[in-house]
Amino acid sequence: MLGNLLVLVLLIALAALFGWLTYRALRAKKLWVKIVGGILGVAATLLFAAFSFVFAKGMYELNRPHPVAAVNVAFEHTPEQVARGEHLAGLLCASCHSMNGTLPLTGGKNLSEDSGLPLGDLYPPNITPGGRLKELTDADVFRILRSGVRPDGQLSAMGFFPVRALSDEDAKAVIAYLRQAPAVENTTPPLSASPLLVAFTGLGFITAPGADQPIQPVTAPPKAVTVEYGKYIADFGDCRACHGEKLDGNAPPPAPPGGSNLTVIVPKWSKDDFFKAMRTGVDPTGHQMQPPMPWQTIGKLDDVELEALYLYLHSLPPIAPNQ
Ligand code: HEC
Ligand code: HEC
Repeated sequence: MLGNLLVLVLLIALAALFGWLTYRALRAKKLWVKIVGGILGVAATLLFAAFSFVFAKGMYELNRPHPVAAVNVAFEHTPEQVARGEHLAGLLCASCHSMNGTLPLTGGKNLSEDSGLPLGDLYPPNITPGGRLKELTDADVFRILRSGVRPDGQLSAMGFFPVRALSDEDAKAVIAYLRQAPAVENTTPPLSASPLLVAFTGLGFITAPGADQPIQPVTAPPKAVTVEYGKYIADFGDCRACHGEKLDGNAPPPAPPGGSNLTVIVPKWSKDDFFKAMRTGVDPTGHQMQPPMPWQTIGKLDDVELEALYLYLHSLPPIAPNQ
C-alpha cells in the first residue's frame, strides 16, 4: 500500500516535471527549442498524467468499500450437504487453497508465481476452522463466494475468482463442509497488490465481476445426465474463462492462450474418449494435455457430472475457427 502510494506520487511528480519543462521550452528564445521541446514535453506530460490517472484508479478500485448487502443464509448442516460440499471443495477450492491441490484447505501457493507476473502477494489463505474461517459467519462466506467482498466491505482477492455460478444449495454445501473440516493452524501472508496489479486493475484487465452486484438467488437443475446439468458444470467449472464465451477457443487476453475449440473437438470424441482424456490427461490422438488445462480437477467430477458435461459439449453447434 505504502509502496503503491510512493509510485503514485512519483508518477504525478514526473507529470508535473514534464509540464514545467514544457512551459520552459515554450518560453525559450530559439524557435526549434520551442517546437521540438513543446511537442516532446506535451507528449511526456500527457503520458505521465495518463499513467497517474490509471494508477490512481487502480488503487481506488482495490481499496474502496463495496456495499454489497449480506444475505441471510441460515441453514442446517446436514450430512448430505457435508458430503456434497467436500466433493465440490475438492473440485473448486483445493486447486488454490492447498499446496498440493487436495483437501484440507490449509492455504496455498502465491498465485502470482503461477501467473509468471509480479502481481504481489496473492496467497489463498487457510480456510479450515483453524484459519480465516473462524472470523467469518456462514453468511460472510456466502458473500465472499458470490461477490468476493469481506464483511468490512473491502474487496478480497477472492473477488477476482468469484464462484458465482455455484447454486445456492451447492454454495451452502461447501460452507457446511468447511465448518466441520478438521481445524489446522497455518498462516499465509496477507494480500499485497504490486504496482503491476494496481496498474492492471486501473486498466480494467483485472476486475472483480461480482463486487458491486446485489446477490441473486442461483438455482441448479437437478443432478442428472442432462445437457442442462452439463451446462451448469461448465458454468461453475469456468471453461469459458479459457475456451471463450462460445467455447470455440476464442478467448481474448488476459485469458491464457491455447484454449481449444471445444465445439469441434469434443463432438469427434466418444464418451469414453472424453472420460479418458479428463481422467488421465491423454486425448484420443495420444496428446498429453498441457497446463493450464485443469484436467486433474475436471477429472474429479463424478460419472454423472462428467457425462452431463460431455452431453452439453456435444450439444453445442460447431463453430469453425475464426468465425
Ligand atoms: C483461483 C484461486 C482460488 C479459488 C479457486 C478459490 N479461492 Fe478462495 N481465495 C483465493 C485468494 C487468493 C484469497 C485471498 C484473499 C485475500 O487475502 O484478499 C482467497 C480467500 C478466500 C476466503 C477468505 C476471504 C478473505 O478475504 O478473508 C474464503 C472464505 C475463500 N477464499 C473461500 C473459497 C472457497 C470456499 C472456494 C471454493 C468454492 C475458493 N475460495 C476458491 C483464491 C481462490
Ligand atoms: C485455465 C484455463 C482452462 C480452463 C479453465 C479450462 N481449459 Fe480446457 N484447455 C485449456 C488449454 C490451454 C487447452 C489446450 C491444452 C493442450 O492441448 O495441451 C485445453 C484443452 C482442452 C480439451 C482438449 C482438447 C484436445 O484437443 O485435446 C478439452 C476437451 C477441454 N480443454 C475441456 C475443458 C472443459 C470442459 C473445461 C471446463 C470444465 C475446461 N477445458 C477448462 C485451458 C483451460
